[in-house]
Amino acid sequence: MMRLDRYLAEAGFGTRKEVKKLIRDGGVLVNGQTVTKAEYKVDETADTVTADGFEVSWSRYAYIMLNKPQGVISATEGAEKTVMDLIYEPYRDMFPCGRLDKDTEGLLLITNDGDLAHRLLSPKNRIEKEYEVRLRDPVTEEDKSVLAAGITAGDEVFRPAVITEADGTYCHITITEGKFHEIKRMFAYLGNEVVYLKRLRMKGLRLDESLQPGEYRMLTEEEISDLREAGSSRNQAG
Ligand code: URA
Repeated sequence: MMRLDRYLAEAGFGTRKEVKKLIRDGGVLVNGQTVTKAEYKVDETADTVTADGFEVSWSRYAYIMLNKPQGVISATEGAEKTVMDLIYEPYRDMFPCGRLDKDTEGLLLITNDGDLAHRLLSPKNRIEKEYEVRLRDPVTEEDKSVLAAGITAGDEVFRPAVITEADGTYCHITITEGKFHEIKRMFAYLGNEVVYLKRLRMKGLRLDESLQPGEYRMLTEEEISDLREAGSSRNQAG
């Protein structure tokens, strides 16, 4: 059960203030009856709600694809500006699924589906993450084989990573774990330095290139169902 104003705001009918006015003005029906109280409790699993004549479709979970800009942190709160400060999505307990460094750009999933996030982040599911990398020095064939074999050096253990699209100091790298500063540390191990990093893909979910840094959009049904297969398939690379 949830408040009618919250239900409408989460379904995208406006801000809490706007939907309160709509309710007060008699624009909202619950199971065919006009309800004028914002605090009226709706059974989101059973009631039929119409607003301004439209049937309201509410779903428990929301999924956002953000093109994370540099300079914001992947956290829900903190002294610094967070990715959540970029999102207008009222009253939902959403959080970033995984972390990108403050100076990393690109694909960041933001959701309130804890079960899906857990499966995508669980190291045992070996979810592929592909990044665009710009380096101080060119990538070598030797680097590619070292990364492809996986790195074990004292405390540093990295699973095999695949380099593609290599062209001088530019390449794509695909990893299947998400350790702190993983890609920067891998290239540091090779004596190189990452100067720019952007995530392009997580499993089958590709960053929508029409999104400028700081912009976001909701995931499509197809994108959501593809991500939901995470953890149920055993044939991820890596
Ligand atoms: N690897 C890094 O070093 N940084 C990121 O933000 C993501 C992967």
